[in-house]
Amino acid sequence: MQVIEREKIIGQIEDLKKKHGIDRSALLPILQDLQKIYGFLPNIVMQEVAHSIGIHPVEVEGVASFYSFFRTKEKQGKYVIRLCQTISCDLAGKQNVARQFENELGIKFGETTRDGMFTLEYTNCLGMCDQGPAVMINDRLFARVDAERASQIIADCRRDFLKSDFPEVVPSDIKKAGPILDNGIKPVESLKKALKMSRSDIIATIRESGLKGRGGAGFPTAIKWQLAGAAKGAKKYVVCNADEGEPGTFKDRMLLYEKTDLLLDGMTIGAYAIGAKKGFIYLRGEYLYMRKYLEKSLSKRRSQNLLGEKILGNKDFSFDIEIRMGSGAYVCGEETALIESLEGYRGEPRNRPPFPVDTGFQGNPTIVNNVETFIDAALIISKGAVWFNEYGTEKSKGTKIFSISGDCRQPGIYEFPFGLTVTELLQEVGGEDAKAVQIGGASGHCIAVKDFHRTIAYEDLGSGGSIIIFGPETDMLQVAKNFLEFFVEESCGQCTPCRDGNPKLLEGIELLEKGRCSVTYLNELKKLGETIQIASKCGLGQSSPNAFLSIIDNFKSEILGRVPEAD
Ligand code: FES
Repeated sequence: MQVIEREKIIGQIEDLKKKHGIDRSALLPILQDLQKIYGFLPNIVMQEVAHSIGIHPVEVEGVASFYSFFRTKEKQGKYVIRLCQTISCDLAGKQNVARQFENELGIKFGETTRDGMFTLEYTNCLGMCDQGPAVMINDRLFARVDAERASQIIADCRRDFLKSDFPEVVPSDIKKAGPILDNGIKPVESLKKALKMSRSDIIATIRESGLKGRGGAGFPTAIKWQLAGAAKGAKKYVVCNADEGEPGTFKDRMLLYEKTDLLLDGMTIGAYAIGAKKGFIYLRGEYLYMRKYLEKSLSKRRSQNLLGEKILGNKDFSFDIEIRMGSGAYVCGEETALIESLEGYRGEPRNRPPFPVDTGFQGNPTIVNNVETFIDAALIISKGAVWFNEYGTEKSKGTKIFSISGDCRQPGIYEFPFGLTVTELLQEVGGEDAKAVQIGGASGHCIAVKDFHRTIAYEDLGSGGSIIIFGPETDMLQVAKNFLEFFVEESCGQCTPCRDGNPKLLEGIELLEKGRCSVTYLNELKKLGETIQIASKCGLGQSSPNAFLSIIDNFKSEILGRVPEAD
């Protein structure tokens, strides 16, 4: 291990405080930069950070151990190879790629080569599910990796290819655009129009449009904005949740890159409507490669007076946006966990109420919306509520952007109006022979053919946009297992039903695999799943058994085929 000089560390921390700020909320960015310098976070580094910020070293360790992208034990390799282990990449042949990496490097996953060149790790969904198996090496993403490509990647790393020019952003895969993706609106048109409107007119227009949050929960956007606008607080904040970590979701990767101006318009309009001066884009750690591009877009807007003081000459409106990186924690997609993370804490969800619109970032009124919601809001201001109302159903207005992966001929990004049936969707994407469809990612429900007539809409099958298709040969027990492994890993561990219940469900699946789970025990597992749904503290635990329970219900004969006959 390298010799670490205390004075040098203190100097580095002081420099980082100048860059990121001096309060607790700067903790994650400071740790992220120190890990880049040292390859991991040695104890002495964490201690000095703690002294410098004025908190106990145990708190820093607690934060570092919470996020999967931080390493506290040993130096990581020069190249950290993270292979996606989530379902779509699993179906696409992750296992062969894993074996190839292990053979090439002579190490197992979780280990570092003796020469310090390579660390092999599994990671969860990298947002490349339509182009799996996906691999992330440092901050670069690789799509459609097979065994041959894995060998090539290792050879290239040995030649230090990561120093060479490499495309910074992975191309998007839009298969079908609709009125949102194909909108014909010029950059900044929405913001210019909004700044001529009153704050209450903006919120009224969003209300008339019927826009609901596109993250999956479907909370009306106008209510959020109205409550935050009306809440008392000298400071207010706008947060873009760009932490899409739901397995099977990759639409934000495209939206962040191709609809950047609309997103920033939407955030700025939200800030104007509620009276906020500061905004954050909380970008998932897996999208680190996108950061440079987004920083450039923010700088450009500052130079055009679209961010900063007195925006477009409006003397009462100043607003700026900062990018904060996540560090590999799915639970931070939950808005209160995200705020905890922004504040420099473990991303553990808060009790609600109070809600963020009242007590959000550092106790101030805060709106948290996802990327697609801000883009929709900007377009609604430009084109009007009536335009938006033309699409969708009575209770689900507008269109939805879907990430479609799994067993179909045309995986990719699709925009469909709400109200489309699953059968229609499968026809569009070439997945007509599907045996099952997972609606809404790992936290959603797995439906069988008998339910394919149902519609995708808030009032029927709600979805944040992740659709995973399973063909006739899929072993549904393996699907349930993959999703549960994901939740066991991603549970924040705060509440007992989620922390202890999900591993029990996983154990049950392993018994089923071995043909050692009785019908009685299977029924117990179902009850346990229902208890986890009811008793967990946050959305992660409440939805973690959904896939397991729906697979047991909808594929009963397949699952019961694994139960011993004597039972
Ligand atoms: Fe592998 Fe999403 S990138 S499942």
